[in-house]
Amino acid sequence: MTNMKNKYFSLGALAVACMMSANVAAQKATSFVVKANQPTAEIQPTMWGIFFEDINLGADGGIYAELVKNRSFEFATPMMGWKEQKKNGTTGKALVHNQEAINPSNRRFIRVESGSDEGFGLSNEGFRGMGIKKGNQYNFSVLARQPQGDNVAVVVELVNPDGKSIGSATVTPQGKQWKKYNVSFTATETEPKAYLNVWAKGKGTVDMDMISLFPQDTWKQRPNGLRADMVQLLADMKPGFFRFPGGCIVEGRTLDERFEWKKTIGPIENRELTVNRWNTEFGHRLTPDYYQSFGLGFFEYFQLSEDIGAEPLPILNCGMACQFNTGEVVPLDQLDTYIQDALDLIEFANGGVNTTWGKKRADMGHPEPFNMKFLGVGNEQWGEQYIERYKIFAKVLSEKHPEIKLITTTGPFPDGEEFDYLNTTLRGMKDTRVDIIDEHYYRAPEWFKENATRYDSYDRKGPKIFAGEYASQTVAIASPDNRNNWNAALSEAAFMTGLERNADVVVMASYAPLFAHVEGWQWTPDMIWVDNLRSFGTPNYQVQKLFSTNSGTQVVPVLLDGIAVTGQNNTFASASIDKKTNEVILKVVNTSDKEMNNEFVIDGVKKLQNRGTHTELRSDNLNQENSFENPKAVSPVQKQIQVKNNKVQLKLQPYSVNVIRVKIS
Ligand code: AHR
Repeated sequence: MTNMKNKYFSLGALAVACMMSANVAAQKATSFVVKANQPTAEIQPTMWGIFFEDINLGADGGIYAELVKNRSFEFATPMMGWKEQKKNGTTGKALVHNQEAINPSNRRFIRVESGSDEGFGLSNEGFRGMGIKKGNQYNFSVLARQPQGDNVAVVVELVNPDGKSIGSATVTPQGKQWKKYNVSFTATETEPKAYLNVWAKGKGTVDMDMISLFPQDTWKQRPNGLRADMVQLLADMKPGFFRFPGGCIVEGRTLDERFEWKKTIGPIENRELTVNRWNTEFGHRLTPDYYQSFGLGFFEYFQLSEDIGAEPLPILNCGMACQFNTGEVVPLDQLDTYIQDALDLIEFANGGVNTTWGKKRADMGHPEPFNMKFLGVGNEQWGEQYIERYKIFAKVLSEKHPEIKLITTTGPFPDGEEFDYLNTTLRGMKDTRVDIIDEHYYRAPEWFKENATRYDSYDRKGPKIFAGEYASQTVAIASPDNRNNWNAALSEAAFMTGLERNADVVVMASYAPLFAHVEGWQWTPDMIWVDNLRSFGTPNYQVQKLFSTNSGTQVVPVLLDGIAVTGQNNTFASASIDKKTNEVILKVVNTSDKEMNNEFVIDGVKKLQNRGTHTELRSDNLNQENSFENPKAVSPVQKQIQVKNNKVQLKLQPYSVNVIRVKIS
């Protein structure tokens, strides 16, 4: 990779040598110079974004606010999550029926026969219980019918772990035809571990399916929508893009279990459930009750992207199952279905309302197009089997949709044989479009600091880079002992200055994974942790948010002794100007345990306002984490700073990430 853009990058070796002479900075002010009139690259609005995958109960049991687990009895064990309930002396039975011939995408329902007015019932445990808030409204719905006369009322009640009712309501299904019944009620107590009883009362039989309970206070109050607190954390990041639906679940353990977007749209009761491949992926974190209901489907993913102002970035299966599992592939001459899925997705997202798939979008309530601009072909594939399949996809998609930027992958690791093969092959392809290459790095904190210069030497004329999945691993990749601590977050910040400095090459970046439920996770570290009622951003979240809300529009050099700041004195930096707000933005990361006495000279602008802001994110303790009890242990603090003669004097605290913003007069 040659063709370096300018002298600031070519001096990387000298920068490394300077790292050796650390610890001298504490005494005299070190002078950093920001060349505010020498932009080296545009920063894409997509630069800092979000990676979403249904892992760690991210969707079902997480952001998708449905409280009932296995609501339509489609899990491999149909009664998983359900228990029969009897009151003293009552009789009855519950039997799962399978009517595959009539409804193959939602085959099962439950028939409950009650022998008395006291009732016979079912109880649903939720996803690690149900989080219920006092005074909030809960919306119950069920598809139901009474095959033998209208003798049964369905009484639903939320119950706390002691068996006390904390909210209840009744619906009375009528007739032999399936119909949807809704009823709402208010919870009388806050309870993180409630469960739901559904009683059939009266002598008779009732059939039920899609037994569902949602809070009313979802994101934007959308019926049956998303958890508002979790979406708010995403919206607060002002992300440039939203990548979905993964991750390995795109691939599936086998091709039969791959993610098929067409099965995730339309009426909710027709969305065919699939197992979640994270259920038994790790023996040490087994989650056998992990399925994908697709209540959060492709329409909702596009809608969420739009809500939070992010470019939608779907990733599709390219005819390969997860290579960490079976690695199954579709024969090259049988890729048509997969390619058609991609073409139809573009029509679903962008097509007019009179096109087949555009109409489906309109029917779901969004006649305007979603303006999708990017499409990922495969998740984290490797080997020549990927290249062969990518070429076929790229040929068709380039011909039919040259406007869509295609994202390809270099596999799970940022170096090594597989990476080198894919990187060289993709960059060498003459007749196949390669717009953006997705690189993944799950590495130790030290790697992130050492790789702040990774992109300095990349080909400026080659494909762009999507840093599609990354996170500092404090122990080892996929270790359950990895922590979301300040050491990890600080090293990511150091690395991210390198991404921003190279914004002419790196056009997108996202931390991964995004969400984890404290009782349902498989993978750690994760950016945001939740339980049934609460959520908090880790220090890593705070770093991501700080970068994405302080991005700027053009990179400008920030120099120490004439060279880019890539680790000298354990300091990492990047700078930008924001043409929209007319500001200079400087990010400086001090990874040392010393306070640094610094001077920042902003060169090349006539006049600056005499006040600016300094946002500091820090902790003295590299092991510091955020938690439900102390969610803001590591969180930004903003202060005013003085600007004199285009200079800012600032002491950078040990282990700190700093953002300085100054307005150009
Ligand atoms: O982020 C967790 C997993 O890491 C993703 O599913 C996969 O793409 C990567 O290996």
